[in-house]
Amino acid sequence: MPQLTPAAPGGLPLLGHIPSLVGRRLSFLEEMRDHGGVVRIRLGRTPAFVISDARIAREVLSDGGTTFARGRFFRKLRPLLGDGLGTSDGPFHMRQRRMVQPAFHHSRPGYDIETMRGVIESRIGSWRAGMTLDIAREMDRLGVALITKTLFSSDTAAGEVRDVQESIADFMVGVGIRTVVPSDLLERLPIPANRRFNAARDRLEHAITKVIADYHADERDHHDILSMLIEARDPEGLPMSDQELRDEVLSLVVAGGDTTGHVLGWIFHELGQHPEAERRLHDELDQVLAGRTVTADDLPKLGYVEQIVNETLRLRNPGWLVMRRTTRALELGGVPIPAGTELLVSVSALLRDPAVYADPMRFDPDRWAPDRAKSLPRDLFLPFGAGTRKCAGEPLARISMALVLATLPTRFRLRPVPGHRVREMALGTMSADKIPMTLESR
Ligand code: HEM
Repeated sequence: MPQLTPAAPGGLPLLGHIPSLVGRRLSFLEEMRDHGGVVRIRLGRTPAFVISDARIAREVLSDGGTTFARGRFFRKLRPLLGDGLGTSDGPFHMRQRRMVQPAFHHSRPGYDIETMRGVIESRIGSWRAGMTLDIAREMDRLGVALITKTLFSSDTAAGEVRDVQESIADFMVGVGIRTVVPSDLLERLPIPANRRFNAARDRLEHAITKVIADYHADERDHHDILSMLIEARDPEGLPMSDQELRDEVLSLVVAGGDTTGHVLGWIFHELGQHPEAERRLHDELDQVLAGRTVTADDLPKLGYVEQIVNETLRLRNPGWLVMRRTTRALELGGVPIPAGTELLVSVSALLRDPAVYADPMRFDPDRWAPDRAKSLPRDLFLPFGAGTRKCAGEPLARISMALVLATLPTRFRLRPVPGHRVREMALGTMSADKIPMTLESR
């Protein structure tokens, strides 16, 4: 039976809740939980709903576009990113997903641990005890280095890998601003920020197009993700066109480059604040690795590493805003929702729900200890989304984070700079603004 729709307080006559959403971002979405599981807001004059009930959010996120299609956030991304997995819908999305996902599957991964470890070693190779670094930016760069090297491992692609690595940060800042600022006007002004964004976009697109052309010309299997995407065939036996390949690669670079590094930055921030957790991590590394470098066989034995990763994915999830649009009228949690309505889901807010996680703002890796984790509803733990829309890169992200955690702390202990307050910054995804930390040898 339909109930009276709970509405959020504080909407302005013309702008509705846009100023609250743009100004307070994640905090605004977190507050919506107090008003109900499905709460009406206004984006300008257009009604929209914030979904804070984890079970309903799961239903909304997991649909492949039949009932809940990509919403406004993604439509703004489409002209920038094209039609890759991150932005497409319906049968086309399913076709692409069947072709892309095998490249990330555990049983046949298009990446190898040795190459990834090499990337980590070379990024921290110049680090010395006593240096103070912004670990947020360092980890972002490492995240991008890992995804680019796994996508294109060929030595002939080194120049393009560098182009992608050097342009992605400006590109993603621009994409982030474009997704939270509702008007298109700002984007057309000839200001330095727009010039930087346009230059980064051109460089990125040129590099990706060039690598694809080079891989086609060379015809060798480079045992990387791009080679697997080129080899992939749809049910009719057709490969992806060059445009489809370009869109998928861009989607992967953006989705992978704007997430794994952020979570890694938060991991070291949390470890810096929780010496006991850091000590237990060191104990585990000493015991399992005993001074060796990490191999693929070690990863399943690093249980505490996994607990730290899960707890950081929960407390500092990058997915602060995911949007969908209803394709038909329906009811959610008893609330009638018309066709064509925008729905807002904050994965970050869902994972901080006190109804699911006791003392949710506390960093507590032991929530995920085997005996305690049993009492948590695993079907509501959605740090990578759900269903046919679940993150395609989850296996790669998890392996990347575990490898970094099994490498960097064997060399250095990262100490927070006293007096600095780390802030959450929600643009396209949620990251830390700055995490200054000083290196100590171990
Ligand atoms: C810690 C790291 C990561 C987190 C927390 C994360 C989280 C997410 C979430 C929540 C979604 C679902 C969005 C939605 O429902 O609309 C998603 C989708 C996606 N992610 Fe990730 N992600 C991470 C890393 C990666 C990496 C490394 C890649 C690729 C290399 C990647 C590629 C994708 C793609 C392609 C999608 C769209 C999937 C689809 O709609 O079919 N992600 N991710």
